[in-house]
Amino acid sequence: MRKKVVAGNWKMNMNLDEGLSLAKGIVNSLKSMEMENDLDVVLIPPFIHLNELNGLLKDSRLALGAQNVHKETSGAFTGEVSASMVKSVGVDYCLVGHSERRVYQQESDDELIAKVNQLLKEDIQAIFCVGESLEERESGKEKEVIADQLAVLFDLDESDFSNLIIAYEPVWAIGTGKTASSDQAQEMHAHIRAEISNKYGSSIADEIRILYGGSCKPDNAAELFSKKDVDGGLIGGASLDADSFVEIIKAASWSF
Ligand code: PGA
Repeated sequence: MRKKVVAGNWKMNMNLDEGLSLAKGIVNSLKSMEMENDLDVVLIPPFIHLNELNGLLKDSRLALGAQNVHKETSGAFTGEVSASMVKSVGVDYCLVGHSERRVYQQESDDELIAKVNQLLKEDIQAIFCVGESLEERESGKEKEVIADQLAVLFDLDESDFSNLIIAYEPVWAIGTGKTASSDQAQEMHAHIRAEISNKYGSSIADEIRILYGGSCKPDNAAELFSKKDVDGGLIGGASLDADSFVEIIKAASWSF
């Protein structure tokens, strides 16, 4: 049985005080919450929160993630942050290939794989995001697009690939309030698992966790998470409010 994951991507929101109080609210609610099943809960704040949150989350059931790292190990890259730096403040997960970075920072496939390799060196689990645009879906190319985005990872050896988490985030559903239906999500997650199985075999494909992201909210999370190949969610907007995020965590904890 794959352990579910709920990860909250705060994006460029929350100053330090706001972030700390959001995290405290989540930690406190989870302390008293009964969960039927164990799951990984990850907060992915902007860099400035990481060090303080590392202290705050010690002894809690929450883990820490980063939104990005640079593709090089260290050096003259003004404004950048490396994988070993985020590791030193307790980061265990990191997003790679989020559609906002693919679009606004024009991140290339070469850059994405270089970042994944930096994270592997530091023993940080990459959450590798894939997703098609509305235009690609409307022209019936969505499965091809996702297969191509995934194939960037297929030079990794089996043991490295097994360390990844995949997040399927249809671009047309991110921040738009338009969620993929649970059947659309299941269909694409099954496709992703089949592509992985073709490359690495069914036992690795069965173990890889595939998250859904894109307008996932308390009122649709349970339905999405009930699908066989949906192993949790990458949550944007709804992770900025402690009550909504906790409701989504509950949906994942009870949806086995
Ligand atoms: P959203 O964002 O939940 O606000 O749609 C999801 C994401 O971009 O990770």
